[in-house]
Amino acid sequence: MDLFSNVEPTHQTYATGLVYLRGFALNNAPTLLADLNQVIAVAPLRSMMTPMGYPMSVATTSCGSLGWVGDAKGYGYSHVDPQSLLPWPAMPESFLQLAENAAETAGFKDFCPDACLINQYHIGTKMGLHRDKDERDFTQPIVSVSLGIPARFQFGGNKRSDKPIQILLNHGDVVVWGGASRMYYHGIMTVQANTHPILGNKRINLTFRKAG
Ligand code: SIN
Ligand code: FE2
Repeated sequence: MDLFSNVEPTHQTYATGLVYLRGFALNNAPTLLADLNQVIAVAPLRSMMTPMGYPMSVATTSCGSLGWVGDAKGYGYSHVDPQSLLPWPAMPESFLQLAENAAETAGFKDFCPDACLINQYHIGTKMGLHRDKDERDFTQPIVSVSLGIPARFQFGGNKRSDKPIQILLNHGDVVVWGGASRMYYHGIMTVQANTHPILGNKRINLTFRKAG
């Protein structure tokens, strides 16, 4: 079986409120990836500094009117790319449409993201448990799109110590959380060796938020 393209879309809501939309972005993936290439040509992927003083293992960039940035002083959102001092690239229409459709399918009408964080994972990288808390508007959900090689997503609760569930996110999968679970802890476990026919040994994640 072709693990990457032969996926029946299914929707599942977990007890914590996380909505898993399997394969929701599969048909749009070629367009998303073409548009992604345009974004990273203008705002290249780079490793942001953590306040702890070392670079993140995951490379990031952004599109939309606000971009997520990190440096020695902390994390937050900026209207400009700190590397070029230019505004972030506009959010491609394909990104916006997909994010709005996914949010609506998950029960969140009128999602209007102004920020898309792009995370690139190589084999052996991970993202520790954290909450998305740098945004202003917590009434709007988070929409997270996975492309490339699979990774294990952890989704816990309001406390870091709440035992997270684990979901394997494959190319084209989308997860959405909001409402009571908007601030829940989540992360990505160490990415295991794998190959994707288009993205090679990489995983790309697009996280849509209403940040401003
Ligand atoms: C994040 O929480 O910012 C990224 C999640 C993911 O890569 O799936
Ligand atoms: Fe996050």
